[in-house]
Amino acid sequence: MPPVTFAPPALEARAVVHGFGELTVLHGVSLAVSPGEVVALLGPSGSGKSTLLHLLGGLDVPRGGEVWWAGERADTLGTQARSVRRAGRVGLIFQHHYLLEDLNVLQNVQVPGMLGALADGGRALALLERVGLGHRALDLPGVLSGGERQRVAVARALAARPAIVLADEPTGSLDRANAERVAELMLGLAREQGSGVLLVTHDEHLAAHADRTLHLLDGRMQEAVGMGAPTR
Ligand SMILES: Nc1ncnc2c1ncn2[C@@H]1O[C@H](COP(=O)(O)OP(=O)(O)OP(=O)(O)O)[C@@H](O)[C@H]1O
Ligand SMILES: [Mg+2]
Repeated sequence: MPPVTFAPPALEARAVVHGFGELTVLHGVSLAVSPGEVVALLGPSGSGKSTLLHLLGGLDVPRGGEVWWAGERADTLGTQARSVRRAGRVGLIFQHHYLLEDLNVLQNVQVPGMLGALADGGRALALLERVGLGHRALDLPGVLSGGERQRVAVARALAARPAIVLADEPTGSLDRANAERVAELMLGLAREQGSGVLLVTHDEHLAAHADRTLHLLDGRMQEAVGMGAPTR
């Protein structure tokens, strides 16, 4: 019989410390997101949420602690190896879409595949159809509305079937109807393919879709409330 194996967390932070110059922003933050789990990260402005997401996405390297992607340590990889791994394992969605303006919509969705193993045009188009934009595949991002661009960003983030999706206020610049649509697509696609999601948001409607909520305060993770943790 094969040995019993446990899937590692999709994402793990172990005692992550970071700062800028003299300023320490994160004071030893630990968290784990399971495959298929949606975790909302809340906290006041300036508490370090975006800084943490950048580190978890491997866009920056922490001063201390460890970042793990699906059981592989990420923060000790060199810059180039980290980019390649990120393309295959991490989907990033920010408040503003950051689409490449010179590539058409379809090519934008194919970008993570180009950096990794395969640029799967069929899958990219299928994802665009899922987000309701199959008919805009050959348009440049500049002619799309804000909500449409953010739906392209969702398709791109999910294109490589990443282990983890990191989203920093993905609906922050959208009206309610568009925000709901983007959130439903992002969380629906992630759950279907078993990606873990860590979602920074100020939007309580969006946080309500999460399986679990974490609170960051002054660069420290607060004790879970109402999760069976002992209260004092
Ligand atoms: N590149 C940087 N250089 C210097 N300080 C920075 C830098 N990036 C962030 N900071 C500081 O780190 C702290 C945390 O910023 P961060 O952007 O992570 O907060 P946040 O929780 O995402 O806030 P918000 O909810 O407003 O987006 C702030 O005091 C900010 O000014
Ligand atoms: Mg932020």
